[in-house]
Amino acid sequence: MLLIDKYRDEFAQFLKENITKTQPETLYDPIHYILNLGGKRIRPILTILSTDIFKGDYKKAMFAALAIEIFHNFSLVHDDIMDKALLRRGKATVHTKWNLNTGILSGDAMLILAYQYFERYEPHIFRELAIIFGKTALEVCEGQQYDLDFENRNEVSTEEYLKMIEYKTAVLVGAALQMGAVVAKTTQENKQIIYDFGVALGIAFQLQDDYLDTFGNAKTFGKKIGGDILENKKTLLYIKTFENSNPSQKEELASLYTTSCSVSEQEKIERTTTLFKSVQSDILLREEIENYTFKAFSFLEKLNISEEKKSILRQFGTDLMNRNV
Ligand code: IPE
Ligand code: IPE
Ligand code: MG
Ligand code: MG
Ligand code: MG
Repeated sequence: MLLIDKYRDEFAQFLKENITKTQPETLYDPIHYILNLGGKRIRPILTILSTDIFKGDYKKAMFAALAIEIFHNFSLVHDDIMDKALLRRGKATVHTKWNLNTGILSGDAMLILAYQYFERYEPHIFRELAIIFGKTALEVCEGQQYDLDFENRNEVSTEEYLKMIEYKTAVLVGAALQMGAVVAKTTQENKQIIYDFGVALGIAFQLQDDYLDTFGNAKTFGKKIGGDILENKKTLLYIKTFENSNPSQKEELASLYTTSCSVSEQEKIERTTTLFKSVQSDILLREEIENYTFKAFSFLEKLNISEEKKSILRQFGTDLMNRNV
């Protein structure tokens, strides 16, 4: 069995054994529901892998991995409210299966639960993990707010977009790896390098998510294709299309990307996707995904770990870049 699959299985088992609270059901059922829908478990796997790579006992990383995964799921429950999303992992989102208040409160409870799992560590490790967690969680909120603010703006620069996705998504990937390094008690330098690797990989990861949101397959992706277009999300696809369009294409894009857009949802998605493709923004985006993945790999060169371990991380990054889930 591949190392990654072994970690995923062990983590799934650990999660099942440690998420046991049930009362009141109206609070905990949605928590079990979202956590049991699975997902790729990328962040906890990275935490565990990171502890292992820096010669720690990977089993000691389990609580930190659990905290990260629960925080991630909390962010998804609230994100789906903000993005008005009906589908998550191929199933109804929490706020549509239950209601808005349930989404808010079960989400809040997950955020608190996540924090509590750090209490399982000895004081100085706890302190280090809690500092990373606090900083990261606040940055995720900042990124989410930029994402929402940009919905109501016509022009967003590539630079602003990259900062937004770094905050809403990439810093958590970096933190997941950094926490694994903290558990392994490795050097400050290693903790920084693995964080930088994670942030670059996280940017590539969000770029890929944006690509799949428009060009993915609904069956495998598990979210509504075209959801970002319907919400007027200023992804790189939009930004590059706006930059590279002629005046009439620009006008069409601007008129489609309004809240008062009069065409049907399906027509809005189809026409926008056609515009994206007409100026080859899809190809440009694929290039950027590759650039950030390779940028992440370049950080690995500075790490003093075995070539075998580096190649596990490289394979993981390559698989993320080529995923359709
Ligand atoms: C979705 O994350 C949110 C983003 C940051 C793009 P994942 O794609 O990791 O979601 P799951 O956990 O695998 O469902
Ligand atoms: C999500 O970005 C980032 C966070 C949840 C913090 P998206 O809004 O693109 O994620 P999906 O596509 O809904 O999973
Ligand atoms: Mg969102
Ligand atoms: Mg979303
Ligand atoms: Mg998305």
